[in-house]
Amino acid sequence: VAAALGSRSVVLVGMMGAGKTSVGKRLAARLGLPFVDADAEIEAGAQLTISEIFERFGEAYFREGERRVIARLLNGGPQVLATGGGAFMNAATRDAIAAGGVSIWLKPEVEVLLARVRKKANRPLLQTDDQEGALRRILADRAPIYALADITIESRDGPHESVVDQTLRRLA
Ligand code: S3P
Repeated sequence: VAAALGSRSVVLVGMMGAGKTSVGKRLAARLGLPFVDADAEIEAGAQLTISEIFERFGEAYFREGERRVIARLLNGGPQVLATGGGAFMNAATRDAIAAGGVSIWLKPEVEVLLARVRKKANRPLLQTDDQEGALRRILADRAPIYALADITIESRDGPHESVVDQTLRRLA
């Protein structure tokens, strides 16, 4: 699989709670590639959390920084890159991803996403009383764009490792 990828990176896209970070770390280990998390890079660069960046500067500012960070990371050689859930919505970011890597939409069932995001309170787009409604709306809006990814990996609840296996088979 690593040979088939050549100099391209594997770029994970999909909703909050899709498992981009958890699957990405395992996938990177299996491929012998470095794992990089775009959100973590943005936070380290800004010395602020994603929530703080949203609060202080707004979403548009965040999206532009996100595009820049992803383009820079993809210039750094093959890696497994986990992107934030909204990154792929930005056309310029999608172009940067297409130029440097194979995009993979991690698409677990919506119930799985809901169960995962309920456990964590750090998503600025889900700071609402109706988290389920918000998540379902965001997913409905975004699904047609996520579907532009090179590969889609559908899953039910289960071990991340089985999603990793499925992804490796599709990349081969
Ligand atoms: C976002 C998802 C988050 C983070 C930001 C915006 C989104 O990343 O980038 O809160 O728009 O879906 P995760 O997908 O890693 O939660």
